[in-house]
Amino acid sequence: MKRALLINGSPRPEGNNAYIIDIVENELRKKDVAVTRIEMSGDRIAPCIHCRECERQKGCVVEDPMSQVYGELDRSDIIVVSCPLYFNGVTAGFKALVDRCQAVWASKYVLGDSMIDRKKDRKGLFICTGGQPEDETDFTGALLVAEAFFRVSNVKIWNKMLVTDVEKRPVMGRGDVTGQVRRLAKELT
Ligand SMILES: Cc1cc2nc3c(=O)[nH]c(=O)nc-3n(C[C@H](O)[C@H](O)[C@H](O)COP(=O)(O)O)c2cc1C
Repeated sequence: MKRALLINGSPRPEGNNAYIIDIVENELRKKDVAVTRIEMSGDRIAPCIHCRECERQKGCVVEDPMSQVYGELDRSDIIVVSCPLYFNGVTAGFKALVDRCQAVWASKYVLGDSMIDRKKDRKGLFICTGGQPEDETDFTGALLVAEAFFRVSNVKIWNKMLVTDVEKRPVMGRGDVTGQVRRLAKELT
């Protein structure tokens, strides 16, 4: 059975990104994929404090939902992140999750004893929504962070989808957007 880790980077439990992740989750469940969902609204992940404990022993000494994320990153075949654009970057909640992957980085490059199976095939999808219209939205910063996250986690970025103008036109009423998300979700397995 395949496993998927779905991360909603929005602090809003009923926003655009929750809706997108709902679509992905439904499609994956239809194919009997075991899904773990992480929500920035409920799963509060503390920021990295650079205590360097992860350079001395494998893992992170901070105990919070990130412990589950490390396990799922290792086990999952599919990783999907859907995140709002906040001041040209990702949300603070998702950035905290990414920064806590320093423990993964240290396990690989300092300890030489990786927390995750580096040879496992993992398929990554990054979706990002911006509130501004197309000509005012710049996803560059968010994409760089997403790429770093997938790289440290040994996930191949299979696809990405960028959605603009969600303040005026939420994804819930946009068949082109929800259709594209559904198509991508179907192709994940
Ligand atoms: C703190 C903050 C910063 C934002 N910065 C941007 C931005 O730089 N560019 C943009 O297009 N939209 C920006 N937005 C709008 C959000 O990207 C948009 O409302 C979001 O994609 C909605 O996602 P959600 O409904 O899943 O929470 C910002 C919103 C907030 C709250």
